[in-house]
Amino acid sequence: MTTSSTVSSRFHNFTATDWIDGEIRHRRKLYKKLFFIDIHLTSPSNDKVQVLFRCDDDSMTTVDHQDCLRLARPGHHVRLHVGPPTDPNEGQDRTFKVWQCTTLPEITKPYDDPKPFIADPPLVNKTRETIKQWDGQEKPKKDMTCKYWLNQRQCHRLETCPFQHPTGPDFEKAREAWVQERLEIRKIITLDPNDPHTDKKPHALRALIFAQWIHTFLIPRLRHCKGNVLDIAGGKGDVSMFLCHAFGIPSTVVEPNLRKQPNYWLTRLRRLMEKHINGINDDDDDDAPRMAQPWPYPDIHPTFMPTLLDDAFIQHHPDLLHRTDLLIGLHADQATEPIVDTALRLGKPFAVVPCCVFGRENLHRQLATTGGPVLTTQDLIQFLCEKETGGYGGKIETAYLDFEGKNQVVYWIPSSHSL
Ligand SMILES: C[S@@+](CC[C@H](N)C(=O)[O-])C[C@H]1O[C@@H](n2cnc3c(N)ncnc32)[C@H](O)[C@@H]1O
Repeated sequence: MTTSSTVSSRFHNFTATDWIDGEIRHRRKLYKKLFFIDIHLTSPSNDKVQVLFRCDDDSMTTVDHQDCLRLARPGHHVRLHVGPPTDPNEGQDRTFKVWQCTTLPEITKPYDDPKPFIADPPLVNKTRETIKQWDGQEKPKKDMTCKYWLNQRQCHRLETCPFQHPTGPDFEKAREAWVQERLEIRKIITLDPNDPHTDKKPHALRALIFAQWIHTFLIPRLRHCKGNVLDIAGGKGDVSMFLCHAFGIPSTVVEPNLRKQPNYWLTRLRRLMEKHINGINDDDDDDAPRMAQPWPYPDIHPTFMPTLLDDAFIQHHPDLLHRTDLLIGLHADQATEPIVDTALRLGKPFAVVPCCVFGRENLHRQLATTGGPVLTTQDLIQFLCEKETGGYGGKIETAYLDFEGKNQVVYWIPSSHSL
């Protein structure tokens, strides 16, 4: 197989010349578009070789490159179709053979031991005493805590591991500090400069905040709206519970995997409403015992339909869809695009909060503006906003909701439904 390289003259064309079989003993990601694996060959020589996978030379697509990284897990036995690296400098002055691969590894024997695989040191063993941090600073390993120790309370390299292994109260302190640091870093690296919310509410409040936004922002902008909502991929039904009981908006949950709804879950939802909508705090230093507040609309209950949103659903429930004023989906996984397409087809308003993209399953998706693939949540949001609204008019818009995590809502009010 030959792939043409148009990226730069630094790269040659790729040609696969050999098949190799062996166990992945180490994997190292150099950056987003390049990673290496060290393979212990099963035949003929029992040698170790290095195989690189890259997409910065156009020898493979970004999606395939990501899939290769996912499949090439240390411990797996694999079969690879390899060839000389497209960058002739790779492999020079090495004591081992360096190959490149541009196709998905075939897993011949997966690593299925419940114990974690202990990787070999890398073939290129430039042992460093520091680790580059997210902000570019180098931090000495001896000042950091071993992440295996923190998460699994064991380290298979205890004797030689350069990181700290605290015990007793120091362990608890180190773990707390590590969790806090990761949360902070996550906040910084996922910071969206367009998001107006700086001190956001916890992710656990997402259903309440979405329901409140529907109640205070979206529904008042809809004409002839009786408030019948179709909450697709609603999971346990949190959003619909808030819509019905807290805001008096009737809602139907379309969800194939119905969950149990224990009493503690109902109590938790009611407490969240009390605390975040009514401002009553359970933790208040209150001498008098306080009765739990009832729901404002205790008699409006969500309806649950244990089914998928698909073509059959649309065909079998024309009356329900006719009565529906608004289709919604919070972190609706594979249902996100079908919700948007169904709403556009019916000319009904929608509001979805996209999260997972399922890029591999949807390779047909392409951004109209750039022609690029849809791989990230931001791509998916753009892709949804680029959809045609047909003869219904109106503009597909976005807004940010005030909670941590994927918090951008994509919504549409067709002209005929707009106040
Ligand atoms: C990440 S969960 C989100 C649940 C809930 N909305 C929440 O935010 O807690 C995604 C849900 O989508 C459901 N789902 C996936 N595809 C669907 C489809 N085509 N129709 C209805 N539900 C679907 C799954 O069963 C799953 O419960």
